[in-house]
Order: sequence, then structure tokens, then C-alpha cells
Amino acid sequence: MKALILVGGYGSRLLPLTYSIPKPLVDFANKPILQHQIEALKHVGVTEIVLAINYRPEDMYKFLKDSEDNLGVKLTCSQETEPLGTAGPLALARDKLVDGSGEPFFVLNCDIISEYPFAELIRFHKTHGGEATIMVTKVEEPSKYGVVIMEEATGRVERFVEKPKTFVGDKINAGIYLLNPSVLDRIQLKPTSLEKEVFPQIVAAAKLYAMVLPGFWMDIGQPKDYITGVRLYLDSVRENSPDRLVSGEHVIGNVLVHETASVGEGCLIGPDVVIGPGCVVEDGVRLSRCTLLRGAHVKKHACICNSIVGWHSSVGQWARIENVTVLGEDVRVGDEVYSNGGRVEPHSEVRSNIPNPKVVS
Ligand code: GDD
Ligand code: MG
Repeated sequence: MKALILVGGYGSRLLPLTYSIPKPLVDFANKPILQHQIEALKHVGVTEIVLAINYRPEDMYKFLKDSEDNLGVKLTCSQETEPLGTAGPLALARDKLVDGSGEPFFVLNCDIISEYPFAELIRFHKTHGGEATIMVTKVEEPSKYGVVIMEEATGRVERFVEKPKTFVGDKINAGIYLLNPSVLDRIQLKPTSLEKEVFPQIVAAAKLYAMVLPGFWMDIGQPKDYITGVRLYLDSVRENSPDRLVSGEHVIGNVLVHETASVGEGCLIGPDVVIGPGCVVEDGVRLSRCTLLRGAHVKKHACICNSIVGWHSSVGQWARIENVTVLGEDVRVGDEVYSNGGRVEPHSEVRSNIPNPKVVS
């Protein structure tokens, strides 16, 4: 089977992290989001994955070069010369997706994390005789997603409304699709949207079906949701492979620590913390609901809560970082500095407090 992953969005809602690297390559629980998806696709028998890219191709090519052998699937790039939206890239990659076998192929948004129940999706798709299946999930704030109204008994989609202004329903498009090759006949090679143009067309033909996604789901394309996604992901690790989590007197709840990281004496870590490769956490540090990306350094008695610390950044002694603060790559936060929701651009130094959420350069 084949798959296409839409990796071309600008990732502007995940700044300042996406100044350094495209969104699909940002680490989530110690590996690129994209890698979580590729491994899960491989697991259900996908052998060839097309990455639909639109900007910064050099980062993606580097990822391909480094990963193809390790991941054991064929990875190819389909590169746009202008952003083609969420549907145009499928038309562009048509020859790579269709091989005459008539088999359906997967399409994924690159920023969603879940247990990727692809095997269940394949099973359901085979039962309904439609052209396309989308996975849906329930959320509390449906307005920032594509909302799906479906016939409960059969799963047939009756309406698809992208980012509705008023309440239509609380089941939303999870950004995981299985499409028959015939869907490609509905897409022109131009900037166009699956959600706004193609899905409504398939709904009108009564051939779009939806399946409620089992397990957790999160679009991690915004810092607050990224932090929530880590919590849900770690809950699922606790359930399925608890040995991957650390335990001990100084650990609360679910904590993932890379084997090359070091954690000092007298720290209190957790819940919902990820410590990346090569990170150094000095003595007496308090960490909760946060991610430290590769090479981050947290000095003595600092406290980090509900935040993301970018690659190779450092947080000074007794500093306090909280309320969805995001430090970009290589940021240095001074001793005793307080940040309440700062979004700090890469390669900068923070010497004074950030009392309220704002972008700091
Ligand atoms: N190749 C390519 N070219 N990819 C693109 C382009 C483009 O021009 N524009 C966006 N993408 C990719 C993004 O990288 C992402 O993987 C996917 O398309 C969706 O874009 P987002 O910007 O993340 O959309 P969203 O989160 O606002 O909404 C989408 O996802 C929701 C679920 O998380 C929609 O599919 C909603 O219906 C859905 O509910
Ligand atoms: Mg998204």
C-alpha cells in the first residue's frame, strides 16, 4: 500500500520552533512527528510514502537521506512550485500514488498524533463500498477544525463543514484518510482544498464515509495543543509500553527521558514531561507538563511548567518558565528570570522578565 503525507504547511502557529525546522520534523516525544506517522504506516504494510512538500525542501531531503534506510520504507518527495493546498498535492503526485492495482491509499495531515488505528481504518473502508473514508474524533472546540455530520448507523457523511463559524456538531475531521484512486479524478492540478472542495463533492455523491477514531487524538500544530498531545501520548505509552517511562522517588506520573540525557540530584520531574537527547537537568530542578528538546540545559533550581524548551536552549538558575512559554532554538534565559507565556525567537538572550504572553526577539 501507498501513502501521502501533507507536509507543506508553513507551521506558523508553531513558531518560534518552526523558524528552525518545518513542522513535521519538530520532535514530539523524542522523534520527529513525521517519524511517528511513517513507523505506524509501515506497521500496517505501507511500503511507499510520498511526502508532499512545498517549502524548505532541503530540510525534508536531509530527513529523507538520513531516514530511508533506518525506517525501511521507500520515501519520495513530491515538490510543489506554489502551495497547492491540501488537495492539489494529490493531483501532483498522481503518478506516484496510482499503480493500476486499484488499491486505496492513505493521506495524512502531518501534525496529528494518535495511536494511528490504520488497520481498523482499512477494515472499515472495505465494508462500505464508498470512495473515501475519513477518521473523525470528538472535540470540545470544533470551530478550529473540519466538522463532520454523519449517519451514525452506517458512517455515511451527510455534511462536511471546514472551520464552521456556528456550532454544527462536535465530531471533527482527524486528518487521516483512506482514498480510492477514483478520488484523484475529482482533483485538478491547482491550489485546492480537500476539506472545502473535494470532500463536499464526495458527500454529494454519497460516497464519503467516516469512522470514529479509537483512542486519543490531537493536532499538535499549536504549542498549547502540543503540550496536551504530549500528555495524551504519554498516557497511551503508560498503557501500552510502560517500560519506556522512568520511575523513582523524584518522578511524578508519566515521564520520558532520553538515554543520553542527565538529571541531577533532588529534582522533581513530572507529570507529563519529555526530556530529549543530550539534555542536562541540573540539581533541584522542577519540571512539569513540559518538553525539553535536544541539547537543552536547565540550570539549578529552575522551574519549568506547561512550556517547550527549544533545541540547545538554556534556562538559568532559579528561573521560572510557565504558561505555554516556548523558547526557540538556542535561546539563553538568564538566572532568576520569569517568563509567563513568552514566545522567544531563536538565538536570543532573555535577561528581563516576560510578565505577560508575548513574542520576544
Ligand atoms: N503540500 C502541502 N501544500 N501541504 C499543505 C499545504 C500546501 O499548500 N497547506 C497545508 N498543508 C498541510 C499541512 O502541512 C498539514 O499537514 C495539512 O496540510 C493540514 O494543514 P493545517 O494547516 O495543519 O490545517 P488545520 O490544522 O488548520 O486543519 C486541518 O486539520 C484538522 C485536523 O487537525 C483540516 O484538515 C481540518 O479539517 C482538520 O479537522
Ligand atoms: Mg493542523
